[in-house]
Amino acid sequence: MVVDGRRALSDVVSTQVDIHRRWGGVVPELASRNHVVQVLPVVHEALGRAGVTLKDIDLIAVTSGPGLIGALLVGVQVAKALSLATGIPFVGANHLEGHLLAIRLLEDAPEPPFLGLVVSGGHTSLYDVRAYGEYRRVGTTRDDAAGEAYDKVARLLGLPYPGGLPIDRLAQGGDPEAIRFPRALPQPGVLDYSFSGLKTAVAQHLRAKGVPEGQALADLCASFQEAVADSLSKKAVAAARALGHSRLVLCGGVAANSRLRTLVRERGEAQGLKVFLPPVRLCTDNGAMIAVAGYEAWRRGLRGDYTMAADPAWRL
Ligand code: KG4
Ligand code: ZN
Repeated sequence: MVVDGRRALSDVVSTQVDIHRRWGGVVPELASRNHVVQVLPVVHEALGRAGVTLKDIDLIAVTSGPGLIGALLVGVQVAKALSLATGIPFVGANHLEGHLLAIRLLEDAPEPPFLGLVVSGGHTSLYDVRAYGEYRRVGTTRDDAAGEAYDKVARLLGLPYPGGLPIDRLAQGGDPEAIRFPRALPQPGVLDYSFSGLKTAVAQHLRAKGVPEGQALADLCASFQEAVADSLSKKAVAAARALGHSRLVLCGGVAANSRLRTLVRERGEAQGLKVFLPPVRLCTDNGAMIAVAGYEAWRRGLRGDYTMAADPAWRL
């Protein structure tokens, strides 16, 4: 994750999914323990792949929230230590701002104002983005994040963690109208989401009919996926229209979803919006998006100091 201006010179992603898979989700204690093992080798590899050394770096950006406190503390402490040893300044970046700004790494990146939908394993929120640094949350999930719903349903179906991609793949061979799962909070004007009722509806269906196989499994995945993508896209387009935006940005891990991408594009364009969909590698968590968010925060005057804390619940 070495970024020069808006160009990523390297983006090394070290994933722990193999470690967490046997537990069906992220185990915080294991995440911190493995973070401390992997963080410096990743920094080393990112510098090497970019063909630079620490001497060439002007600014260190680190995620200081929101997220799992153990992993955040490891990252923040490493940034401080690198800064102390080298004299390079550092800055704390917000993970959600990273998702919203990841698209800046593309040539035809939209400038604010725009409406952003951040949809990941931990968050599902709509942001009215007036300028860099001016983010107003206009809607959010009242219970589970969309990615969390994917991961929980995958677990019920006996699919591997994280469940988004396996369900997405199976859904592509299924009938999205096979089962009519509920859409929560359908009232126009309500920009909040809710996914726990959908997860319960899937669980009840499985209790009544058993866990399906073959075509029936594909149909169930497609029907679940349709319910998620329908709600997400409808409210995002409605929010953009209500707030007078002409641009809509989709981001976060679930923005990798094939059906969501199609529906957001179709429905957004039908309403005259310009829709921006980052490539999949910029949707799921990555270091380049944190470099971009950190650089923007730095330009706004934010500075890290040796007393900087991590904030697991930092709201954008
Ligand atoms: O943004 P992200 O990488 O990490 C968080 O900040 O949470 O998002 C991870 C989430 C997981 O819940 C994963 O199941 C979901 O994104 N995801 C997907 C797809 N790829 C990843 N969900 C639906 N369809 C996908 N293709
Ligand atoms: Zn994320």
